[in-house]
Amino acid sequence: MPNALATLHPVDAQDGTAELLALEREYCSFGDTVHYLEPPKIFERCEGSYLYDNAGTPFLDLQMWYSAVNLGYGHKRINDAVKRQMDTLPQVASQYLHREKIELAARLARHAEQQFGKKGRIHFNVGGSQAVEDSLKLVRNFTGGKSLMFAFEGGYHGRTLGASAITSSYRYRRRYGHFGDRAQFIGFPYHFRGAPKGMSKEEYGHHCVQNFARLFETEYYGVWDAKAGKCEYAAFYVEPIQGTGGYVIPPKNFFIELKKMLDQYGILLVVDEIQMGFYRTGKLFSIEHFGVTPDVVVFGKALTNGLNPLSGIWAREEMINPTLFPPGSTHSTFASNPLGTAAGLEVMKVFAEQDFESMVMEKGRYFLDGLKELQKQHNIIGDVDGLGLAMRAEICGEDGFTPDKAMVDRMCEEGMKGDLIVGGKRYGLVLDIGGYHKNVITLAPALTIAYEEIDLALHLLGQLLHRCTR
Ligand SMILES: Cc1ncc(COP(=O)(O)O)c(C=O)c1O
Repeated sequence: MPNALATLHPVDAQDGTAELLALEREYCSFGDTVHYLEPPKIFERCEGSYLYDNAGTPFLDLQMWYSAVNLGYGHKRINDAVKRQMDTLPQVASQYLHREKIELAARLARHAEQQFGKKGRIHFNVGGSQAVEDSLKLVRNFTGGKSLMFAFEGGYHGRTLGASAITSSYRYRRRYGHFGDRAQFIGFPYHFRGAPKGMSKEEYGHHCVQNFARLFETEYYGVWDAKAGKCEYAAFYVEPIQGTGGYVIPPKNFFIELKKMLDQYGILLVVDEIQMGFYRTGKLFSIEHFGVTPDVVVFGKALTNGLNPLSGIWAREEMINPTLFPPGSTHSTFASNPLGTAAGLEVMKVFAEQDFESMVMEKGRYFLDGLKELQKQHNIIGDVDGLGLAMRAEICGEDGFTPDKAMVDRMCEEGMKGDLIVGGKRYGLVLDIGGYHKNVITLAPALTIAYEEIDLALHLLGQLLHRCTR
Protein backbone atom coordinates (compact mmCIF):
# COMPACT_ATOMS: atom_id res chain seq x y z
CA MET A 1 0.00 0.00 0.00
CA PRO A 2 1.47 3.40 -0.90
CA ASN A 3 1.82 5.88 1.95
CA ALA A 4 -1.27 8.13 1.65
CA LEU A 5 0.76 11.15 2.74
CA ALA A 6 2.89 10.79 -0.38
CA THR A 7 0.22 10.08 -2.99
CA LEU A 8 -0.26 13.68 -4.13
CA HIS A 9 2.13 15.00 -6.73
CA PRO A 10 3.00 18.72 -6.36
CA VAL A 11 0.42 20.93 -8.07
CA ASP A 12 1.83 23.48 -10.49
CA ALA A 13 1.14 27.02 -9.30
CA GLN A 14 0.74 28.44 -12.82
CA ASP A 15 -1.48 25.85 -14.46
CA GLY A 16 -2.84 23.95 -11.51
CA THR A 17 -5.72 26.21 -10.47
CA ALA A 18 -8.47 23.86 -11.61
CA GLU A 19 -6.75 20.90 -9.97
CA LEU A 20 -6.28 22.77 -6.69
CA LEU A 21 -9.92 23.84 -6.64
CA ALA A 22 -11.03 20.26 -7.27
CA LEU A 23 -8.87 19.05 -4.38
CA GLU A 24 -10.27 21.81 -2.15
CA ARG A 25 -13.83 20.81 -3.01
CA GLU A 26 -13.07 17.23 -2.07
CA TYR A 27 -10.81 17.55 0.98
CA CYS A 28 -11.23 20.91 2.71
CA SER A 29 -13.98 21.56 5.21
CA PHE A 30 -15.99 24.56 4.18
CA GLY A 31 -16.99 25.03 7.81
CA ASP A 32 -13.87 26.99 8.70
CA THR A 33 -14.17 29.61 5.96
CA VAL A 34 -16.64 31.62 3.89
CA HIS A 35 -16.50 31.42 0.10
CA TYR A 36 -17.64 34.82 -1.07
CA LEU A 37 -16.60 34.10 -4.66
CA GLU A 38 -17.30 31.14 -6.86
CA PRO A 39 -14.71 29.86 -7.61
CA PRO A 40 -12.63 31.24 -4.75
CA LYS A 41 -9.52 33.18 -5.75
CA ILE A 42 -6.06 31.71 -5.23
CA PHE A 43 -3.22 34.18 -4.55
CA GLU A 44 0.49 33.54 -5.00
CA ARG A 45 2.33 36.30 -3.13
CA CYS A 46 1.89 39.59 -1.33
CA GLU A 47 3.83 42.80 -0.75
CA GLY A 48 2.96 46.18 0.75
CA SER A 49 -0.68 46.93 -0.10
CA TYR A 50 -0.96 44.27 -2.80
CA LEU A 51 -1.84 40.62 -3.26
CA TYR A 52 -0.69 39.03 -6.55
CA ASP A 53 -2.37 36.18 -8.41
CA ASN A 54 -0.56 33.59 -10.52
CA ALA A 55 -0.72 35.87 -13.58
CA GLY A 56 1.19 38.52 -11.61
CA THR A 57 -1.81 40.91 -11.49
CA PRO A 58 -1.65 43.23 -8.47
CA PHE A 59 -4.80 43.39 -6.35
CA LEU A 60 -4.86 46.53 -4.22
CA ASP A 61 -6.02 45.32 -0.82
CA LEU A 62 -8.35 47.62 1.07
CA GLN A 63 -9.13 45.17 3.85
CA MET A 64 -5.71 43.72 4.78
CA TRP A 65 -6.85 40.37 6.14
CA TYR A 66 -9.68 41.98 8.13
CA SER A 67 -7.23 44.48 9.59
CA ALA A 68 -4.66 41.91 10.73
CA VAL A 69 -1.88 43.28 8.50
CA ASN A 70 -1.85 46.93 9.52
CA LEU A 71 1.80 47.50 8.59
CA GLY A 72 1.45 46.06 5.11
CA TYR A 73 2.34 42.69 3.63
CA GLY A 74 5.93 41.52 3.91
CA HIS A 75 7.04 44.26 6.31
CA LYS A 76 10.79 43.69 6.30
CA ARG A 77 11.57 44.54 9.92
CA ILE A 78 8.85 42.35 11.31
CA ASN A 79 9.62 39.50 8.97
CA ASP A 80 13.31 39.77 9.95
CA ALA A 81 12.43 39.67 13.64
CA VAL A 82 10.56 36.43 13.08
CA LYS A 83 13.46 35.03 11.01
CA ARG A 84 15.90 35.92 13.81
CA GLN A 85 13.67 34.20 16.33
CA MET A 86 13.44 31.22 14.01
CA ASP A 87 17.23 30.92 14.10
CA THR A 88 17.58 31.30 17.87
CA LEU A 89 14.63 30.16 19.99
CA PRO A 90 11.69 29.30 17.72
CA GLN A 91 10.17 26.75 20.08
CA VAL A 92 9.85 26.74 23.84
CA ALA A 93 7.03 25.54 26.07
CA SER A 94 5.13 28.33 27.76
CA GLN A 95 5.97 27.08 31.25
CA TYR A 96 9.46 28.48 30.55
CA LEU A 97 10.14 32.11 29.81
CA HIS A 98 11.62 33.99 26.89
CA ARG A 99 12.63 37.63 26.70
CA GLU A 100 10.22 38.62 23.90
CA LYS A 101 7.12 37.58 25.82
CA ILE A 102 8.12 39.60 28.87
CA GLU A 103 9.15 42.71 26.91
CA LEU A 104 6.01 42.65 24.79
CA ALA A 105 3.80 42.32 27.88
CA ALA A 106 5.67 45.15 29.62
CA ARG A 107 5.30 47.50 26.63
CA LEU A 108 1.58 46.84 26.29
CA ALA A 109 0.94 47.13 30.03
CA ARG A 110 2.93 50.36 30.30
CA HIS A 111 1.02 51.83 27.40
CA ALA A 112 -2.28 50.91 29.06
CA GLU A 113 -1.07 52.35 32.36
CA GLN A 114 -0.16 55.62 30.67
CA GLN A 115 -3.45 55.84 28.78
CA PHE A 116 -5.85 54.54 31.39
CA GLY A 117 -4.00 55.45 34.61
CA LYS A 118 -4.27 51.87 35.88
CA LYS A 119 -1.69 49.21 36.52
CA GLY A 120 -2.47 45.93 34.83
CA ARG A 121 -1.12 42.75 33.28
CA ILE A 122 -1.07 41.06 29.90
CA HIS A 123 -2.36 37.54 29.34
CA PHE A 124 -1.67 35.80 26.01
CA ASN A 125 -3.53 33.27 23.92
CA VAL A 126 -3.85 32.26 20.28
CA GLY A 127 -6.58 33.91 18.16
CA GLY A 128 -9.07 36.64 18.96
CA SER A 129 -11.94 34.37 19.96
CA GLN A 130 -9.78 32.49 22.44
CA ALA A 131 -8.74 35.77 24.05
CA VAL A 132 -12.43 36.69 24.29
CA GLU A 133 -13.02 33.34 26.01
CA ASP A 134 -10.23 34.11 28.47
CA SER A 135 -11.74 37.51 29.18
CA LEU A 136 -15.07 35.83 29.96
CA LYS A 137 -13.33 33.61 32.52
CA LEU A 138 -11.58 36.62 34.00
CA VAL A 139 -14.84 38.57 34.31
CA ARG A 140 -16.79 35.64 35.73
CA ASN A 141 -14.03 34.96 38.24
CA PHE A 142 -13.84 38.59 39.36
CA THR A 143 -17.60 38.97 39.74
CA GLY A 144 -18.10 35.82 41.80
CA GLY A 145 -19.26 33.69 38.89
CA LYS A 146 -21.75 36.01 37.22
CA SER A 147 -22.25 34.66 33.72
CA LEU A 148 -24.54 37.22 32.09
CA MET A 149 -23.13 39.91 29.81
CA PHE A 150 -24.42 42.86 27.85
CA ALA A 151 -23.20 43.31 24.29
CA PHE A 152 -24.25 45.37 21.29
CA GLU A 153 -26.61 44.68 18.47
CA GLY A 154 -24.32 44.37 15.45
CA GLY A 155 -21.40 43.34 17.68
CA TYR A 156 -18.97 40.58 16.74
CA HIS A 157 -16.62 38.86 19.18
CA GLY A 158 -15.76 35.59 17.45
CA ARG A 159 -17.12 32.10 16.82
CA THR A 160 -15.95 29.89 19.64
CA LEU A 161 -18.85 28.91 21.86
CA GLY A 162 -18.44 31.63 24.48
CA ALA A 163 -17.65 34.33 21.94
CA SER A 164 -20.67 33.34 19.80
CA ALA A 165 -22.89 33.77 22.85
CA ILE A 166 -21.98 37.45 23.09
CA THR A 167 -21.98 38.01 19.30
CA SER A 168 -25.29 39.39 18.10
CA SER A 169 -25.99 37.15 15.06
CA TYR A 170 -28.19 34.16 15.87
CA ARG A 171 -26.79 32.65 12.65
CA TYR A 172 -23.57 31.79 14.52
CA ARG A 173 -25.52 29.88 17.22
CA ARG A 174 -28.46 28.43 15.35
CA ARG A 175 -27.12 24.95 14.60
CA TYR A 176 -25.28 24.40 17.85
CA GLY A 177 -27.58 25.26 20.74
CA HIS A 178 -26.47 27.17 23.79
CA PHE A 179 -23.40 26.20 25.77
CA GLY A 180 -23.38 29.39 27.81
CA ASP A 181 -25.57 32.36 28.49
CA ARG A 182 -26.48 34.46 25.50
CA ALA A 183 -25.76 38.15 26.01
CA GLN A 184 -28.50 40.73 26.27
CA PHE A 185 -28.03 42.86 23.14
CA ILE A 186 -28.34 46.62 23.42
CA GLY A 187 -28.70 49.12 20.54
CA PHE A 188 -25.49 50.76 19.27
CA PRO A 189 -25.64 54.43 18.18
CA TYR A 190 -25.74 53.67 14.46
CA HIS A 191 -26.83 57.16 13.51
CA PHE A 192 -27.27 56.73 9.75
CA ARG A 193 -29.74 53.87 10.13
CA GLY A 194 -31.16 54.27 13.62
CA ALA A 195 -31.59 57.93 14.49
CA PRO A 196 -35.00 59.60 14.27
CA LYS A 197 -35.07 62.35 11.64
CA GLY A 198 -33.39 65.59 12.71
CA MET A 199 -31.56 64.06 15.70
CA SER A 200 -27.83 64.88 15.80
CA LYS A 201 -25.17 62.22 16.30
CA GLU A 202 -24.55 63.35 19.87
CA GLU A 203 -28.24 63.49 20.67
CA TYR A 204 -28.60 59.98 19.32
CA GLY A 205 -25.65 58.78 21.42
CA HIS A 206 -27.38 60.19 24.49
CA HIS A 207 -30.71 58.68 23.39
CA CYS A 208 -29.13 55.19 23.12
CA VAL A 209 -27.64 55.44 26.62
CA GLN A 210 -31.02 56.55 27.95
CA ASN A 211 -32.67 53.52 26.33
CA PHE A 212 -30.18 51.31 28.14
CA ALA A 213 -30.68 53.24 31.39
CA ARG A 214 -34.38 52.44 31.28
CA LEU A 215 -33.52 48.80 32.13
CA PHE A 216 -32.43 49.93 35.58
CA GLU A 217 -35.56 51.90 36.46
CA THR A 218 -37.29 48.99 38.15
CA GLU A 219 -36.42 45.42 39.07
CA TYR A 220 -39.25 44.32 36.75
CA TYR A 221 -37.07 45.05 33.70
CA GLY A 222 -34.98 42.08 34.72
CA VAL A 223 -31.43 43.31 35.26
CA TRP A 224 -31.20 45.22 38.55
CA ASP A 225 -32.00 44.45 42.18
CA ALA A 226 -32.34 47.90 43.71
CA LYS A 227 -32.69 46.55 47.26
CA ALA A 228 -29.38 44.70 47.06
CA GLY A 229 -27.83 47.34 44.79
CA LYS A 230 -26.72 44.56 42.45
CA CYS A 231 -26.88 43.98 38.71
CA GLU A 232 -27.39 40.46 37.35
CA TYR A 233 -24.98 41.27 34.51
CA ALA A 234 -21.21 41.15 34.98
CA ALA A 235 -19.85 43.18 32.07
CA PHE A 236 -20.66 45.07 28.90
CA TYR A 237 -18.67 43.83 25.89
CA VAL A 238 -18.10 46.61 23.36
CA GLU A 239 -16.28 47.25 20.14
CA PRO A 240 -15.58 51.01 20.25
CA ILE A 241 -16.07 51.05 16.48
CA GLN A 242 -18.10 48.12 15.24
CA GLY A 243 -16.03 46.02 12.84
CA THR A 244 -18.10 43.27 11.24
CA GLY A 245 -21.11 45.49 12.02
CA GLY A 246 -19.92 47.87 9.29
CA TYR A 247 -17.30 50.21 10.77
CA VAL A 248 -19.96 52.13 12.66
CA ILE A 249 -18.42 55.05 14.54
CA PRO A 250 -20.27 56.24 17.65
CA PRO A 251 -20.46 59.92 18.67
CA LYS A 252 -17.79 61.18 21.07
CA ASN A 253 -20.18 61.48 24.03
CA PHE A 254 -21.49 57.92 23.83
CA PHE A 255 -18.90 55.92 25.76
CA ILE A 256 -18.46 58.63 28.39
CA GLU A 257 -22.18 58.51 29.15
CA LEU A 258 -22.33 54.72 28.94
CA LYS A 259 -19.35 54.30 31.28
CA LYS A 260 -20.98 56.57 33.86
CA MET A 261 -23.95 54.25 33.89
CA LEU A 262 -21.83 51.11 34.08
CA ASP A 263 -19.94 52.55 37.05
CA GLN A 264 -23.19 53.49 38.73
CA TYR A 265 -24.46 49.91 38.50
CA GLY A 266 -21.16 48.06 39.06
CA ILE A 267 -20.86 46.63 35.54
CA LEU A 268 -17.41 46.05 34.03
CA LEU A 269 -16.43 47.50 30.64
CA VAL A 270 -14.68 44.99 28.37
CA VAL A 271 -13.34 46.53 25.18
CA ASP A 272 -12.78 44.30 22.16
CA GLU A 273 -9.93 45.86 20.15
CA ILE A 274 -9.31 42.80 18.03
CA GLN A 275 -10.19 44.53 14.76
CA MET A 276 -9.75 48.22 15.61
CA GLY A 277 -6.58 47.97 17.69
CA PHE A 278 -2.98 48.72 16.72
CA TYR A 279 -3.49 52.12 15.10
CA ARG A 280 -6.28 51.14 12.71
CA THR A 281 -8.11 54.26 13.95
CA GLY A 282 -5.01 56.34 14.73
CA LYS A 283 -4.62 55.17 18.35
CA LEU A 284 -3.00 52.01 19.65
CA PHE A 285 -6.43 51.12 21.06
CA SER A 286 -9.47 52.76 19.50
CA ILE A 287 -11.12 53.28 22.90
CA GLU A 288 -8.46 55.96 23.52
CA HIS A 289 -10.51 58.25 21.26
CA PHE A 290 -13.43 58.12 23.64
CA GLY A 291 -12.14 59.28 27.03
CA VAL A 292 -13.04 56.26 29.15
CA THR A 293 -11.04 53.71 31.13
CA PRO A 294 -11.87 50.09 30.37
CA ASP A 295 -11.54 47.25 32.88
CA VAL A 296 -10.38 44.76 30.26
CA VAL A 297 -9.02 45.16 26.73
CA VAL A 298 -8.96 42.22 24.32
CA PHE A 299 -6.63 42.28 21.30
CA GLY A 300 -5.35 40.05 18.49
CA LYS A 301 -5.01 40.28 14.71
CA ALA A 302 -2.53 43.11 13.93
CA LEU A 303 -0.47 42.54 17.09
CA THR A 304 1.87 40.41 14.94
CA ASN A 305 1.06 42.12 11.63
CA GLY A 306 -0.78 38.93 10.71
CA LEU A 307 2.31 36.70 10.97
CA ASN A 308 1.15 34.65 13.92
CA PRO A 309 -2.24 34.18 15.62
CA LEU A 310 -1.08 35.71 18.90
CA SER A 311 -3.81 37.43 20.91
CA GLY A 312 -4.28 38.56 24.44
CA ILE A 313 -5.98 40.63 27.09
CA TRP A 314 -5.01 43.50 29.31
CA ALA A 315 -6.84 43.76 32.61
CA ARG A 316 -6.41 45.97 35.60
CA GLU A 317 -4.40 44.54 38.47
CA GLU A 318 -7.37 44.04 40.83
CA MET A 319 -8.88 41.59 38.33
CA ILE A 320 -5.84 39.76 36.98
CA ASN A 321 -3.36 39.59 39.86
CA PRO A 322 -2.01 36.04 40.34
CA THR A 323 -3.80 35.58 43.66
CA LEU A 324 -7.23 36.14 42.14
CA PHE A 325 -6.50 34.72 38.67
CA PRO A 326 -3.96 32.00 39.45
CA PRO A 327 -1.54 30.14 37.16
CA GLY A 328 -3.33 27.84 34.75
CA SER A 329 -6.63 29.76 34.79
CA THR A 330 -6.44 29.39 31.03
CA HIS A 331 -3.80 27.63 28.98
CA SER A 332 -2.98 26.86 25.40
CA THR A 333 0.18 25.12 24.17
CA PHE A 334 0.98 27.92 21.76
CA ALA A 335 -0.01 30.89 23.97
CA SER A 336 2.83 33.44 24.09
CA ASN A 337 4.78 31.39 21.54
CA PRO A 338 8.21 32.81 20.72
CA LEU A 339 7.61 33.54 17.03
CA GLY A 340 4.41 35.45 17.80
CA THR A 341 5.84 37.43 20.68
CA ALA A 342 8.95 38.29 18.63
CA ALA A 343 6.69 39.62 15.85
CA GLY A 344 4.54 41.48 18.39
CA LEU A 345 7.53 43.05 20.07
CA GLU A 346 8.88 44.30 16.74
CA VAL A 347 5.45 45.70 15.82
CA MET A 348 5.43 47.64 19.08
CA LYS A 349 8.93 48.97 18.36
CA VAL A 350 7.84 50.14 14.90
CA PHE A 351 4.86 51.93 16.45
CA ALA A 352 7.11 53.57 19.04
CA GLU A 353 9.53 54.97 16.46
CA GLN A 354 7.15 56.92 14.25
CA ASP A 355 4.21 59.21 14.89
CA PHE A 356 1.58 56.74 13.73
CA GLU A 357 -1.22 58.77 15.24
CA SER A 358 -0.66 61.83 13.03
CA MET A 359 0.21 59.73 10.00
CA VAL A 360 -2.91 57.56 10.19
CA MET A 361 -5.23 60.48 10.95
CA GLU A 362 -3.88 62.47 7.99
CA LYS A 363 -4.11 59.60 5.52
CA GLY A 364 -7.57 58.80 6.88
CA ARG A 365 -8.77 62.35 6.29
CA TYR A 366 -7.37 62.32 2.75
CA PHE A 367 -9.00 58.98 1.95
CA LEU A 368 -12.32 60.03 3.51
CA ASP A 369 -12.36 63.28 1.50
CA GLY A 370 -11.96 61.17 -1.63
CA LEU A 371 -14.82 58.91 -0.57
CA LYS A 372 -17.01 61.96 0.01
CA GLU A 373 -16.22 63.12 -3.54
CA LEU A 374 -17.28 59.70 -4.84
CA GLN A 375 -20.46 59.98 -2.77
CA LYS A 376 -21.30 63.26 -4.55
CA GLN A 377 -21.05 61.46 -7.90
CA HIS A 378 -22.96 58.31 -6.86
CA ASN A 379 -26.16 58.63 -4.92
CA ILE A 380 -26.09 54.89 -4.13
CA ILE A 381 -23.40 55.70 -1.55
CA GLY A 382 -25.78 56.49 1.27
CA ASP A 383 -23.20 57.11 3.98
CA VAL A 384 -19.46 57.47 4.26
CA ASP A 385 -17.60 57.87 7.52
CA GLY A 386 -14.22 57.08 8.99
CA LEU A 387 -11.90 57.31 11.94
CA GLY A 388 -8.23 57.09 11.01
CA LEU A 389 -7.94 54.36 8.40
CA ALA A 390 -11.13 52.55 9.41
CA MET A 391 -13.67 53.76 6.87
CA ARG A 392 -17.09 52.84 5.59
CA ALA A 393 -19.10 53.35 2.42
CA GLU A 394 -22.69 52.22 2.79
CA ILE A 395 -24.20 51.13 -0.52
CA CYS A 396 -27.92 51.70 -0.97
CA GLY A 397 -30.62 51.97 -3.60
CA GLU A 398 -31.26 55.13 -5.60
CA ASP A 399 -32.94 56.64 -2.51
CA GLY A 400 -29.55 56.60 -0.78
CA PHE A 401 -30.97 54.61 2.15
CA THR A 402 -32.45 51.20 1.28
CA PRO A 403 -29.60 48.70 1.79
CA ASP A 404 -28.38 47.16 -1.47
CA LYS A 405 -26.45 44.03 -0.58
CA ALA A 406 -26.60 42.72 -4.15
CA MET A 407 -24.76 45.80 -5.42
CA VAL A 408 -21.96 45.40 -2.84
CA ASP A 409 -21.64 41.71 -3.71
CA ARG A 410 -21.34 42.67 -7.36
CA MET A 411 -18.71 45.32 -6.67
CA CYS A 412 -16.64 42.83 -4.68
CA GLU A 413 -16.92 40.23 -7.42
CA GLU A 414 -15.96 42.71 -10.13
CA GLY A 415 -12.99 43.90 -8.05
CA MET A 416 -11.72 40.35 -7.85
CA LYS A 417 -11.71 39.89 -11.62
CA GLY A 418 -8.42 41.76 -11.84
CA ASP A 419 -9.39 43.55 -15.05
CA LEU A 420 -9.65 47.18 -13.94
CA ILE A 421 -7.29 49.35 -16.00
CA VAL A 422 -5.43 52.39 -14.68
CA GLY A 423 -2.57 53.97 -16.64
CA GLY A 424 -2.63 51.03 -19.06
CA LYS A 425 -2.03 48.54 -16.22
CA ARG A 426 -4.39 45.82 -14.95
CA TYR A 427 -5.47 45.84 -11.31
CA GLY A 428 -7.79 43.99 -9.00
CA LEU A 429 -9.37 45.50 -5.90
CA VAL A 430 -9.86 43.55 -2.67
CA LEU A 431 -12.88 44.76 -0.71
CA ASP A 432 -14.60 43.50 2.40
CA ILE A 433 -18.30 43.54 3.18
CA GLY A 434 -19.78 44.30 6.57
CA GLY A 435 -22.81 45.88 8.12
CA TYR A 436 -26.12 44.88 9.68
CA HIS A 437 -27.51 44.43 6.14
CA LYS A 438 -24.22 43.33 4.54
CA ASN A 439 -24.29 46.42 2.34
CA VAL A 440 -21.26 48.27 3.72
CA ILE A 441 -17.83 48.33 2.13
CA THR A 442 -15.57 48.31 5.17
CA LEU A 443 -12.21 49.81 4.29
CA ALA A 444 -9.08 48.91 6.23
CA PRO A 445 -6.07 49.68 4.00
CA ALA A 446 -2.50 49.19 5.18
CA LEU A 447 -1.46 52.02 7.51
CA THR A 448 1.64 52.20 5.33
CA ILE A 449 -0.41 52.86 2.18
CA ALA A 450 1.14 55.61 0.02
CA TYR A 451 -0.89 58.67 -0.99
CA GLU A 452 -0.60 57.59 -4.65
CA GLU A 453 -2.08 54.25 -3.63
CA ILE A 454 -4.99 56.04 -1.93
CA ASP A 455 -5.54 57.91 -5.22
CA LEU A 456 -5.40 54.59 -7.05
CA ALA A 457 -7.89 53.06 -4.59
CA LEU A 458 -10.34 55.92 -5.16
CA HIS A 459 -9.87 55.63 -8.92
CA LEU A 460 -10.53 51.88 -8.83
CA LEU A 461 -13.57 52.33 -6.57
CA GLY A 462 -14.90 54.95 -9.04
CA GLN A 463 -14.41 52.53 -11.94
CA LEU A 464 -16.20 49.76 -10.05
CA LEU A 465 -19.12 52.04 -9.26
CA HIS A 466 -19.42 53.06 -12.92
CA ARG A 467 -19.19 49.46 -14.10
CA CYS A 468 -21.80 48.20 -11.63
CA THR A 469 -24.32 51.01 -12.03
CA ARG A 470 -24.38 51.46 -15.78
C1 LIG B 1 -14.05 42.67 16.96
C2 LIG B 1 -13.65 41.23 16.81
N1 LIG B 1 -13.66 40.44 17.88
C3 LIG B 1 -13.31 39.14 17.78
C4 LIG B 1 -12.91 38.60 16.59
C5 LIG B 1 -12.53 37.15 16.52
O1 LIG B 1 -11.16 37.03 16.29
P1 LIG B 1 -10.58 35.71 15.59
O2 LIG B 1 -11.20 35.66 14.23
O3 LIG B 1 -9.10 35.92 15.58
O4 LIG B 1 -11.00 34.56 16.45
C6 LIG B 1 -12.91 39.39 15.44
C7 LIG B 1 -12.55 38.82 14.13
O5 LIG B 1 -12.87 39.34 13.10
C8 LIG B 1 -13.29 40.75 15.55
O6 LIG B 1 -13.31 41.56 14.49
